[in-house]
Amino acid sequence: MPGLHLYDGRDMITPQHLVAVIDYGSQYTQLIVRRVRELGFLARLYTPEELDEVVEPGAIILSGGPRSTSEPDAPDIDFAKLISFHVPVLGVCYGMQLLNIKTGGTVRPSNKREYGPAALLPESDCKLFEGVSASSQVWMSHSDTVDHLADGCRIIARNSEGVPVALQWGESMFGIQFHPEVTHSHEGRTILRNFLSCAPHLAPFDIGDFRRELITEIRQKVGDRQVVCGVSGGVDSTVLAVLLHEAGVNARFIFVDNGLLRKNEAQEVQDNFRRMGVEIETVDASDRFLEALRGETAPEKKRRIIGTLFIDVFWDAVGDAEMLAQGTLYPDVIESASNAKSKASVIKTHHNRVERVLKLQEQGKVIEPLAFLFKDEVRALGASMGIPHDILWRHPFPGPGLAVRCPGEVTKDKLDIIRDSDAIFISTLRKWGWYDKCWQAYAGLIPVKTVGVKGDERSYEFATNLRAIISEDAMTADWVQLPYDLLREVSNRILNEVKGTNRVLYDVSTKPPASIEWE
Ligand code: XMP
Repeated sequence: MPGLHLYDGRDMITPQHLVAVIDYGSQYTQLIVRRVRELGFLARLYTPEELDEVVEPGAIILSGGPRSTSEPDAPDIDFAKLISFHVPVLGVCYGMQLLNIKTGGTVRPSNKREYGPAALLPESDCKLFEGVSASSQVWMSHSDTVDHLADGCRIIARNSEGVPVALQWGESMFGIQFHPEVTHSHEGRTILRNFLSCAPHLAPFDIGDFRRELITEIRQKVGDRQVVCGVSGGVDSTVLAVLLHEAGVNARFIFVDNGLLRKNEAQEVQDNFRRMGVEIETVDASDRFLEALRGETAPEKKRRIIGTLFIDVFWDAVGDAEMLAQGTLYPDVIESASNAKSKASVIKTHHNRVERVLKLQEQGKVIEPLAFLFKDEVRALGASMGIPHDILWRHPFPGPGLAVRCPGEVTKDKLDIIRDSDAIFISTLRKWGWYDKCWQAYAGLIPVKTVGVKGDERSYEFATNLRAIISEDAMTADWVQLPYDLLREVSNRILNEVKGTNRVLYDVSTKPPASIEWE
């Protein structure tokens, strides 16, 4: 990941008895850390060279990796050091082959990578597979396979072709050829839990402890410099801002009002921060954005105009920053690295990686304290600092704001129709208890005028589009089967109260092929 500072908690104060995950470069390594934390224990990533820095671990996991152990410069492990800890060890994929070689076995390299599902057939009673059903699906992604085994090593599982896929040495050193951390390994969680149950004194993962460590780390990194942080009112930047505030460092929080926000949103964001005791600076650039968008109808051009202007306005306000704090999350990091297709993360990544940011990054002046966390963990962190539920569980809102819900040219009149309709829709969802059941919901505008009757007069106005979806990660989405009575109430209110629209439609399109936003 060139130019990317991935904060992974390594330089935080190291407590004892954590699960040390040694990173051999698999794209899933961070998931191992996450799974261990989900099981309630503290886990942290180390490079193989950093094994020296590990003090009294509770257990060690060697991750998978893209290399073959037979390559001359393949990543290694200080095996004497590893076993000197006398703690349970689990080697995953590359980690298993490495353990096999280190204990005196051999590995057969292959040019072909086995990738995909396989059936796990445990050989005998083995605590690693306790409670795992027969022929459970596991997920393979490897090239090397076990050739000879050293004395004292036993095979504890094979696949349906009889190939060994799990090994055990002594009481509590294990190797598995598959990835228990991915959800495609259906009982991977049980296998990890079984492994961790071999370790008697593991440090618990507690979000409060984690917060204190993050704060210590922020204080150390920032020192007496001033750190600048952009806020949007969204979950990530809000949690980051409150964390910096709690750390007591010298911080400036900048909020750009691009005029494309929801009804009263700028005011609400300011009020929310005030509620939490954080002072923010608001830059009202709404006129500049509307002016820049005037006459533009092409979706990608609209996005580019907004993105570029945002960067200009934000950095004008920042001036010469001594340090920058960004609310990058772990999925943003993996997705930008693996080039996944989520628009949100690509765009966000784009924002977080503009030239000025990269320059600051090279100078070590960018901190990304949340880059170790997944969204639900950020919410837990936020809750532990007393951030109210309604702020932590706000629906996602796109950076280009209402512009992507206003196909064609963006005008103040159209934005006002969207804002008023959206406010009615969202407040009704809340009133009916449906807001938290939707992953995202909004009203947008369909820029087609149709004929209607309002009062005694003929009207010729735009249509309003309601969209409510459920999703896990925004990559796919399904529309929500909202009660007809709820839709009727929203539609009645919009038609009666909002000027400029005479028709309300509910969008029943899944993603794919539709997207969540209209542009
Ligand atoms: P689509 O429309 O691609 O949206 O199905 C997927 C998710 O991403 C959000 N989205 C964005 N978020 N900047 C963001 O921060 C953007 O430019 C952007 N575009 C879409 C969208 O709201 C949905 O949650």
